[in-house]
Order: sequence, then structure tokens, then C-alpha cells
Amino acid sequence: MKCVVFGAGTMGCGIAEVLLRSGAEVQLVDRSAELVEAGVVRLRTSLDRGVSKAKLTAEEAASCLSRVKSDSLEVSEADLVIEAVVEDLAVKKELLAPLSVRFPEAILASNTSSLSLTEMAAACTRPERVIGLHFFNPPPIMELLEVVTAEQTGQSTLDRALELARSWGKTAIVVKDMPGFASSRLGIILGMEAIRMLESGVASARDIDRAMELGYRHPMGPLKLTDLVGLDVRLAIAEHLTREIGPQFTPPPLLRRLVRAGRLGKKTGRGFYRWEGNDSYE
Ligand code: NAI
Repeated sequence: MKCVVFGAGTMGCGIAEVLLRSGAEVQLVDRSAELVEAGVVRLRTSLDRGVSKAKLTAEEAASCLSRVKSDSLEVSEADLVIEAVVEDLAVKKELLAPLSVRFPEAILASNTSSLSLTEMAAACTRPERVIGLHFFNPPPIMELLEVVTAEQTGQSTLDRALELARSWGKTAIVVKDMPGFASSRLGIILGMEAIRMLESGVASARDIDRAMELGYRHPMGPLKLTDLVGLDVRLAIAEHLTREIGPQFTPPPLLRRLVRAGRLGKKTGRGFYRWEGNDSYE
């Protein structure tokens, strides 16, 4: 299967790895050759980590890398396109619309965390081929795939998406195209409230996280999770849900201040925690 992943960032590289590990050929596309190259380095590092943890063999990792196409920003073939670019509806529509004309038989999927698939589909000439495939971070590890149906999504597109989810070893849930779907809508509420609690001095970041980890058996507290997702990404989702659903999602001033300061979480080395590789410090 020929897959194209747009956006060689946190999610795009992880999604590319899932596809490669299922045997697909993957073209990685970003805004420049340098960004694609950085994505390939990230992909290689993640595959090497998988080998060191015995999740795959060195031969399998080499085979995955041999199936990555990263030498062109032009797409010539596509059975499945997954976009994982910035959480901005206009950018996603602009990207998907010409692909729908060029590859009418391809499934066009968005990894959006909250935006309207129905609006994205409306921009496409084959809206029945558009669907949401919402992976979780990090995609090679997280089991859930939230499959989001736009108003226009065709049954054969949904059936194919569920088949693909199984082939990737994911457990799919099917969700209607409502802002924030089933996951982000709940996750953002918890995340924004944790930031408000930190802002008002209820407890330290570590202790707010421990409350959920040890008291509620969450594998990771909401502040650490926000660091992992990216503070900028969560801010964009919270702003969207505030507009679409209501003020309960309003981002706290502290989140805006940290984003303005470039403290975007793990990807910039600092968010609510300081990060060195995968290790976090208060
Ligand atoms: P990121 O900021 O790490 O990566 C986005 C990449 O897209 C960047 O490399 C950027 O250069 C590239 N890009 C922007 N416009 C582009 C275009 N027109 N063509 C090609 N590439 C373009 O962002 P991240 O975190 O990977 O998020 C991407 C999407 O995935 C967003 O829609 C986000 O809501 C969603 N998502 C994010 C999760 C997370 O934990 N970070 C989890 C699940 C979904």
C-alpha cells in the first residue's frame, strides 16, 4: 500500500512508523526538505529504540527505513493520505482539496484532535473518501485509534479504515464528527483544570499529576501529558472547543504565557517540567 503522511512532526513521524511497521510504503512530506530530513532522523531514532527494547528486529527496522520515501515534496502515488500538519482548519482544507482531485480513489484522512472533518470533506471533490484517523501520542505505542466519521464519509471508507486499524494492531472506536470527538473533549477539560489549579497554587505540577496517577490510576498526570502533546497543540484545541462548545474549555492565562515564552513541552525541552530526552524534572 502506498501511503503519504503530511507533517513530519511529533505525530506524523509516529504515524509513519505505524504504517511502515505494517509493511506499507510511506512518503513523508513537510514544508521543506530539511523538515522531512529531521523527521527521518526522528523516525530512525524511534525504530532504534524499538530494536533496543526488542519490539522489532534490526532487519525489520532496516526494512521500514528502506520503504520511506523522503526525497521529494511532490506526491505521485497515494492509496492512503494521512495529514498530521498544524491544528488549523484552513491549512488542512488547503492541503486536502487538491489531493482529492489528484487521487480520487485514495482515502484522505486527518489526524486532527478536534477540528471538523465535515468541513474538511466539504472542501474535497470526493467527500465520501474523507475520514478522521486520530492516533494518540506516541502512535507506535498507543492502542487507541479514534475513527471519526464526517457527515459525508462513505460506508466503504469507514469499513476500510476499520480494516486498516486492525492491520495496525489498533483498537478503533467510531465517533461522530463533534468538536473534540470522544477523547480530546474529556482530556482538554482535565488538562485546562490542572493548569488552573497550578496557577492558583493548589499544589506543585508533580503533585497535581500524582493525584491522578496514584489516586485515579491514570498512566500519566494531565500536566505531564500536556508537555508530551505540546502546549501549543493543546492551546489550539482548547480555543477551538471554547468557540464550538462553550467557556468550560477556556485556556488559562498561564498556558498562553508559557506558549508565548516558547515553553511548548517536551519538544522544546521545557513546559511544566524540564525535559532531557524522555526524562522529566520539576
Ligand atoms: P507538530 O508541530 O509536531 O508537527 C506539525 C508538522 O506539520 C510540522 O513539521 C510542520 O512543519 C508541518 N506542516 C505544517 N503545515 C504543513 C503543510 N502545509 N504541509 C506539510 N507539512 C506541514 O504537530 P503535531 O503535534 O505532530 O500535531 C499534528 C496534528 O496532529 C495536529 O492536527 C494535532 O492536533 C494532531 N494531534 C496531535 C497529538 C499530539 O500529542 N501532539 C495527538 C493527536 C493528534
